[in-house]
Amino acid sequence: MRRALPAVKLLVNNELPWHKVLVSEHRTEYSRAIQLDWEGARYYADADTAAWLSPFWAEGSPFLALFRQLPLERVVELACGHGRHAAQALPLAGHITLVDVLASNIAACRARFGADPRIGYVVNNGNDLPRIADGSVTALFSYDAMVHFELLDVLSYLREAHRVLVPGGRALLHVSNNRENPEGRVRDNTHWRNFGGLDVMRHFAVRCGLTVLAARALDWDGAAELDGLLLLEKPA
Ligand SMILES: C[S@@+](CC[C@H](N)C(=O)[O-])C[C@H]1O[C@@H](n2cnc3c(N)ncnc32)[C@H](O)[C@@H]1O
Repeated sequence: MRRALPAVKLLVNNELPWHKVLVSEHRTEYSRAIQLDWEGARYYADADTAAWLSPFWAEGSPFLALFRQLPLERVVELACGHGRHAAQALPLAGHITLVDVLASNIAACRARFGADPRIGYVVNNGNDLPRIADGSVTALFSYDAMVHFELLDVLSYLREAHRVLVPGGRALLHVSNNRENPEGRVRDNTHWRNFGGLDVMRHFAVRCGLTVLAARALDWDGAAELDGLLLLEKPA
């Protein structure tokens, strides 16, 4: 006689936080390795020079053209590093919440900006926006960081962006357009761009409830169309 199979409990739980839905120890290990790439990196000093800032902030930059389309009353900068972009954005913004997975980076930003009441600080877990209320942010941007992230973390952040943005709020995201090495590790890729793709990002964005206002491929340091820039809007 066949034995009855044990009851299978379906894990359908609307209370489960989104960022935990797709977590496995393997995913976490890949993400953690990427985070540690930036702990105490020499990058931060190099990146805070005019030469490294100009692709983002010089007149004629595609980043600046889209940044000017952000409503800057209450801003989140995701993966802020040592705050080089926040220093550029601050004169234009009402309030900026700086988010980074590394406590050492948020400490560096605190040392840089001090107790400026226009700045808030959040250490996150690598795929969430904790302590940022639903519908409380007018703009979110992230430069030179998501290009390295695991695709599943980018998906979590798109979901979080939709959660925290006000209706009509916008997100400007610098993402990877690298279609190579889908099974590999970011360090093996050109300019450490993780596997991604502007088309996949657009798909994710729309499935997370965001409208794509602009999506353009960008060359990066001689590598044709390696990166992408996305301007997204939460529908009003
Ligand atoms: C190349 S640095 C760029 C920093 C800053 N955006 C800039 O342009 O100067 C990458 C940043 O991403 C952060 N980071 C890495 N993985 C992350 C994750 N999963 N979530 C949030 N931040 C992350 C690192 O701590 C670091 O600050």
